Amino acid sequence: MKYFSSILLLLVILSSCQVKKTRTFTEDEISIVPKPSSLYLSEGSYTFSKDTKISVADDSQKPAAKYLSDLFEKAAGFPLNIIDTKDENGVVFIEDETLASETYTLEVTPKSITIKASDAAGYFYAVQTIRQLLPASIEKADSNATDWVIPSINITDQPRFAWRGMQMDFSRHFFSMDEVKTFLDYMALYKLNTYHMHLTDDQGWRVEIKKYPLLTEKGAWRIESSHDIECKKLAKTDPSFTIDEQHYHDRDGQRMYGGFYTQEQIKEIIAYAAERQIEVIPEIDMPGHFKSAIDNYPFLACTGEAGWGELFSSPACLGKESTYEFTKNILSEIAELFPSEYIHIGGDEVNIQSWKECPLCQKAIKDNNLKNEHELQSFFNHNIEAFLKSKGKRMMGWDEIVEGGVSDQTTMMWWRNWAPDMLTKAADNGNDIVMTPCFEYYFDAKHEVTPFEKVYNYEPIPETFNEGQAKHIIGIQANLWSEMIPNFKRLEYQAFPRLLAMAETAWSSKDAKDHDNFQKRMTLQYDRLDALGVQYHIPAVTGLKDKVAFLDTATITLEAPLHGMEIYYTTDGSIPTKASKKYTEPLSFSETVTLNTVAYRGDIASEKRSALVEKQSYLEPLEVTPEKGAINRWAAVKKFKVVDDIVMPKSATYIVVNELNFTDHDGQENVSMVFKGYFYAEADGLYEFATKSDDGSLLYIGDKFVVDNGGNHSALEKNGMVALKKGWHPLTVKFHEATGGGQLTVWYTAPNGDKKILNGDVIGK
Ligand code: ACM
Ligand code: ZN
Repeated sequence: MKYFSSILLLLVILSSCQVKKTRTFTEDEISIVPKPSSLYLSEGSYTFSKDTKISVADDSQKPAAKYLSDLFEKAAGFPLNIIDTKDENGVVFIEDETLASETYTLEVTPKSITIKASDAAGYFYAVQTIRQLLPASIEKADSNATDWVIPSINITDQPRFAWRGMQMDFSRHFFSMDEVKTFLDYMALYKLNTYHMHLTDDQGWRVEIKKYPLLTEKGAWRIESSHDIECKKLAKTDPSFTIDEQHYHDRDGQRMYGGFYTQEQIKEIIAYAAERQIEVIPEIDMPGHFKSAIDNYPFLACTGEAGWGELFSSPACLGKESTYEFTKNILSEIAELFPSEYIHIGGDEVNIQSWKECPLCQKAIKDNNLKNEHELQSFFNHNIEAFLKSKGKRMMGWDEIVEGGVSDQTTMMWWRNWAPDMLTKAADNGNDIVMTPCFEYYFDAKHEVTPFEKVYNYEPIPETFNEGQAKHIIGIQANLWSEMIPNFKRLEYQAFPRLLAMAETAWSSKDAKDHDNFQKRMTLQYDRLDALGVQYHIPAVTGLKDKVAFLDTATITLEAPLHGMEIYYTTDGSIPTKASKKYTEPLSFSETVTLNTVAYRGDIASEKRSALVEKQSYLEPLEVTPEKGAINRWAAVKKFKVVDDIVMPKSATYIVVNELNFTDHDGQENVSMVFKGYFYAEADGLYEFATKSDDGSLLYIGDKFVVDNGGNHSALEKNGMVALKKGWHPLTVKFHEATGGGQLTVWYTAPNGDKKILNGDVIGK
């Protein structure tokens, strides 16, 4: 008896040791992106082992169970057994019909894991959350980590938007099946559910159409596009722009770039996506961006041959019956191939000049009582829409399709930030809308132009929308146009980490979003991306201005933008590498240098951040007494293409304005402006100026070039410094708006002062 009770005692001690062994996590140790609707951490943790079983009760739970088991098989070397009886100590899937589609609850205790949902998507997202609770080594094959521990936690989670999309452009540059699958894996991790494949465009046709074999036999191949030439030029100094060699093939004795997916391969992609709760939406862009079809079936063109207008390729002729027949035959095969509700027909950027000059198009306009070429496109869209409807599909297109009117069944992808009217027009017409604004969600844009914060902070429901209109915003999507994305690593670099910021907006409620908290969670997500081998972008060194001026000595303090980073720098003009000088303390300079910096996280390098650190002497003021609060402005329309080219005529006529901004030519293109007047320095010292402009701007004090914000680009801020003696100094600001939404703001910062808008008493004429 005594012996027996001491064994009992031993068992009690042993089991209490085991309970004690489970660790308790803090919030800082976990990072789930997108942020769940509610999350409560509690004491203790659950440990996965070879013996952990997954209990499933129906088929809708099996794909999620298998996904979890596969993760362990790959990383830990053992799968988790999936059983159809209940094991109280394992992972248990339970159906809860009260939960909406895609919604799940997850309860983790030291003893078991319970997942509840009402559909396969809900179960799948619970598994993705478990995946993010596991150490990052779960993402790596044959991981050495043996501690597969997750915190005790209670999570209830549901998405904000039904459409959580990513788009890839296969025409401008092509991607392999494996790369597509890898990208779908990334999307699944962040609970994105819609994969938009831009399969056709002027630069290549990428999907097999059995009725028109030339589309891929010829249309999928090219010798060299203008983008290829640009990529090759950039690749000379930045190898990340190297065009992927695997897409070059010898065709009829010529080295050609290209490729396409057979219909069987498309089915494979669709199935792979479906296993990850992702729907694939095909885009066949028409009647513009259609050159790879017209090249090989030239009867489609108004003129009988393919060509280019001023900006865009010549579209298919909408006055010929053969265009309608051709496009419908293609869409028949596409509708059969893709199970998605939507078929995207593009409809963007049509060179309507071709239709203006075509007698057949003009006849179609007249015969159908249409007002203009926009209505002709709309006539075509209606026709295609009815056809797609007959195939059980809904039509989707870029926002241009709304211009000439569409039925309320069409869904619009809004991309032109400068065409906000399309949003109200669509919502009021009853059209659903997917927000993919090019200023925020075009991930082909440079990170400098569309930084991570801008993506995160974007609110997709317009402020002006009432509740009824807001219901039509069904989701958001980011696009990866591939003109300048010639390989998959470069694609990852463009997509990450912005994809996570977009995914959080797509999934998490507006109120749950919190930038600081997100940044905190991001630090751990970088470890996960490292484990996955994702080539993400890391921000450049912070604390460095574009131009730094000093009088005697400059002291420059640099900051690493993320944890676990090291900064390297050079002053000889070369690009820093890990072999360069390592930054350990503030830098001092007494002569002018160009300071180049690069931050490294492991082997991933940030973009270079440079500054001209310039020794200056004071600029003397002029003996003038200008009229305060005003400045002269000269403007010209369609004279120059870029700010750097602006030359004032000898006899310029000025108007007087109070602000340095872009106002009364709003909506016009190729507008150039020059502001000329004076700036008042209130004391001797170093002054900083900054401009934010879309497109370019340049700022001078006297002959001194202070802010270089040149070129054509979307809104971008640049700064510069200058040493000024107290008094009035000549000020010139040049600005140019090329296309698509102009803006200009100019600031100054006096010595020891705050950054202020440049207006009022410090400007004069
Ligand atoms: C687009 O970017 N042309 C939709
Ligand atoms: Zn025509």
